[in-house]
Parts: sequence; C-alpha cells; structure tokens
Amino acid sequence: MTVYFYRRDRAPATAPCLPPGLDLRVWRPAEDGLPRRGPKHGQNLVWWAFSRLGVFARPRFAEVSIWRGGRLLHRLIVTPRWRRFPFMDADDLQIGDLWTHPEVRGQGLARLAILEARRQAAGAAGRIWYLVEANNTVSVRLIESCGFRRVGVGRRTRPFGVRALGRFEIETPLP
Ligand SMILES: CC(C)(COP(=O)(O)OP(=O)(O)OC[C@H]1O[C@@H](n2cnc3c(N)ncnc32)[C@H](O)[C@@H]1OP(=O)(O)O)[C@@H](O)C(=O)NCCC(=O)NCCS
Repeated sequence: MTVYFYRRDRAPATAPCLPPGLDLRVWRPAEDGLPRRGPKHGQNLVWWAFSRLGVFARPRFAEVSIWRGGRLLHRLIVTPRWRRFPFMDADDLQIGDLWTHPEVRGQGLARLAILEARRQAAGAAGRIWYLVEANNTVSVRLIESCGFRRVGVGRRTRPFGVRALGRFEIETPLP
C-alpha cells in the first residue's frame, strides 16, 4: 500500500473553538498516568506501557479526544519518534490514528482535534508529520486543508510477513 508522508513546521496554534455541548480531552500518559476506562482503553494501555518503558524518543505521547456527554465523537493520537517511524527526528511529533464517529463526520471535528494537537505541540522544536494511505482521499483532503505539505511517498515494510514489525519508509522524497 502506497503511503503519503505529510509534514508541517510547528507554529503557535490558537485553541479550537468547540461547538456547545462538546468536551475536549487531552490525555498524556507521562503526566496523567493510566488511561480512563472507556472506548480505546485497551489501545491506550499499550501506549501507556510504551510510555513507561521509554519506547518513545521523548515523553510526549498524547491522545486528543472530543466527547458529547459520555460518547466519544473523535479521537487522534500524537506520537513521538519510535522504531515504527524512523524517518522522524527526535524532536518531531506525528498526528495519527484519527477517527470520527460516522454519525458526525463532515462537521469539522477532525480539523478541531488537529488544531488542538498542533497547539499542544507548539513551543518545542521539531516538525509535525501525518501519514495516510494514498487511497484515503478524505484523509488526504483533510490534512491538506490543515496546511500540511506532502514531502514523500513510501510504504510500510513487512519483515517476515509480519505487519506489526513493519516500519514506515519514505521511498521517494518530494521537493
Ligand atoms: C478522516 C476522518 C477522521 C475525517 O473526520 P471528520 O471529522 O469527518 O473531518 P472534518 O469534518 O474535520 O473535515 C475536515 C476536512 O476534511 C475533508 N473532508 C472531510 N470529509 C470529507 C469527505 N467526505 N469528502 C471529501 N473531503 C472530506 C474536507 O477538506 C474537510 O474540510 P471542509 O469541510 O472545509 O471541506 C473521518 O472520515 C474518519 O474517521 N474516517 C475513517 C478513519 C480514517 O480514515 N482515518 C484517517 C487515517 S489517516
């Protein structure tokens, strides 16, 4: 599967203006400890363990989520460099694993969460990355509309046929 690599420099970002009734939550395992129970709890336990074990280049992993009442409407994660993303510098961060509840897609929630992720990342050196499969046209349009620039085309490797061991590699850097 062809993967597009997008990037933008960090810069101050304004706080997102959420529609009434929505809550924005940021969870940073290095500061907040164990994840709350609820959707994505299992995945977040893995990220918490990675954070505790020093898997990441820096203790800057974060989850940004948007809720209405007790219902998860959107979630993304911000990941420092680790072995899956060797093209990143130690100061870089990556926005990924975006998901918006199908009933509320197209209402700007992903864009708001990306803005919050950029705001969280501001103030430190480094750049922000975003990886997307080439055929995910919605995600491509989303990230381009957020001012990210395509800087490479590549793929995810599959050592011994095992996806989980794979790394993302840029095969064709773009000017
Ligand atoms: C990709 C995804 C997270 C977008 O979430 P969303 O909350 O609907 O996105 P937003 O409403 O914030 O859209 C922001 C921009 O994305 C683009 N976009 C969103 N939905 C689109 C659609 N159906 N068709 C084309 N472009 C679209 C537009 O540029 C839009 O800006 P605009 O409304 O000003 O034109 C959501 O579709 C999703 O969860 N998809 C399944 C999981 C996935 O593919 N994740 C991305 C992995 S890289």
